[in-house]
Amino acid sequence: MTSEPGVSVRVPAKINLGLAAGGPGADGYHDLATVFQAVSLYDEVTATLAEDVSITVDGVQAEEVPLDPSNLAIRAARLLARRSGIDAGVHLHLHKQIPVAGGMAGGSADAAGALLACEALWDLGLTRADLIELAAELGADVPFPLMGGTAIGTGHGDVLTPALARGEFQWVLAFAPFGLSTPRVFGELDRLRAGRVLPEPRVADQLMHALRSGDAQALGEALHNDLQPAALSLAPKLERTLAVGRDCGVLGALVSGSGPTVAFLVSGADMALDLSIGLTASGAVRDVRRVHGPVPGARIIDPARGGR
Ligand code: C5P
Repeated sequence: MTSEPGVSVRVPAKINLGLAAGGPGADGYHDLATVFQAVSLYDEVTATLAEDVSITVDGVQAEEVPLDPSNLAIRAARLLARRSGIDAGVHLHLHKQIPVAGGMAGGSADAAGALLACEALWDLGLTRADLIELAAELGADVPFPLMGGTAIGTGHGDVLTPALARGEFQWVLAFAPFGLSTPRVFGELDRLRAGRVLPEPRVADQLMHALRSGDAQALGEALHNDLQPAALSLAPKLERTLAVGRDCGVLGALVSGSGPTVAFLVSGADMALDLSIGLTASGAVRDVRRVHGPVPGARIIDPARGGR
């Protein structure tokens, strides 16, 4: 534990309840219509004053997080300092629970957490909307952890509109013992769909209706991810994980984002327990976690500064 005054931020992981992708644009990016939900699996980012910008990491898969300047949280801190015209340093400490390269935007969540923590540490007086704008420059998935809840993402997935969602949904997450690279999954999607004329990506009405009515059964039937066939093509073992869910009679299941994490929508504690036992017994997963969503976006948890 450090005795330095610092700011700690708790930032949630996301799952994509729906993801429709168009073809690749000239910049290599794909137009998306996606629905994000923030879930109760969190990384913690602690920022303390320092001479220059540095980072340490502990928690789950800490050894897989790059500590060089390519780290997105470091890039977030540097971008914020540059744009604010200040010459401040920071030490960032990440406590990880969100899987690395897991399709749950863990690296993006850390960058979002770094923006919020550094803004408070350096007392810059920026609004959350200012930070969300800056976040989009760092990556398509960085704005959402600052917003949280349930939201529609268009453009590259970074143009956010809050979505109306009633109630709380129960999820079981199956973490794979390997990661998947997002650019590789999008590349595989393009290969699988080569020569096809693709419609404009759009969010299914059935999905939005299920969210508005808080109907878990209907939501389970409406879950859809265009990236899933590409993730399964690169990692066929995920079929086995999905099959365990089907055997347990889950309400719905899908690969989250570019994978390999699989999210199962369950009706309650009994189904969650059955599924967790089945997944663990299958030997196909690294770990299993029960979470709920939606949850709020990144929050300061340092009691000295209060929540905001
Ligand atoms: O924006 P971010 O750095 O998170 O994206 C990682 C990679 O995912 C991009 O370099 C691109 O290959 C792919 N991507 C995409 N279309 C999107 C978002 C991401 O092709 N809308």
